[in-house]
Amino acid sequence: MDFEILFNQTQTNNNSKNITGVLVKKKDTFFQILEGEAILLDMLFEKIKKDSRHSNIVELLNKPISALSFKGFDTGYAVIDHIDALYGLQTYVANLEHNEIENSSLFSQIIEELLSPK
Ligand SMILES: Cc1cc2nc3c(=O)[nH]c(=O)nc-3n(C[C@H](O)[C@H](O)[C@H](O)COP(=O)(O)O)c2cc1C
Repeated sequence: MDFEILFNQTQTNNNSKNITGVLVKKKDTFFQILEGEAILLDMLFEKIKKDSRHSNIVELLNKPISALSFKGFDTGYAVIDHIDALYGLQTYVANLEHNEIENSSLFSQIIEELLSPK
């Protein structure tokens, strides 16, 4: 499947709605963080859930935050499908964790898991 088209479309859509975050693809697994206006996120998530290009979606976290954490990473909404970019994300999230930014410990654990050879 050509994910490049999906990724580009995703990026354009999210930028236009001021939705920030990250989409990581590693082999058959996606990990996504989305932040932005609640109504827009709810609508987007409904759409994503219906997308047949993936299955077994698990929502790990859904709660209000005091500030956007990923505005400063890449273009604000990043798509990652290379290991080196994933290391870049790990460094970014480690810095969030250092600054005690909400939810960053969870993100850090998940990224660690994605980086472990399995
Ligand atoms: C793993 C995964 C993540 C996705 N993430 C987004 C996203 O963050 N933003 C987005 O607009 N579409 C995302 N999509 C694509 C949507 O499911 C949908 O195809 C897209 O929003 C176009 O919808 P539309 O044809 O109604 O405009 C994702 C799809 C998959 C498979």
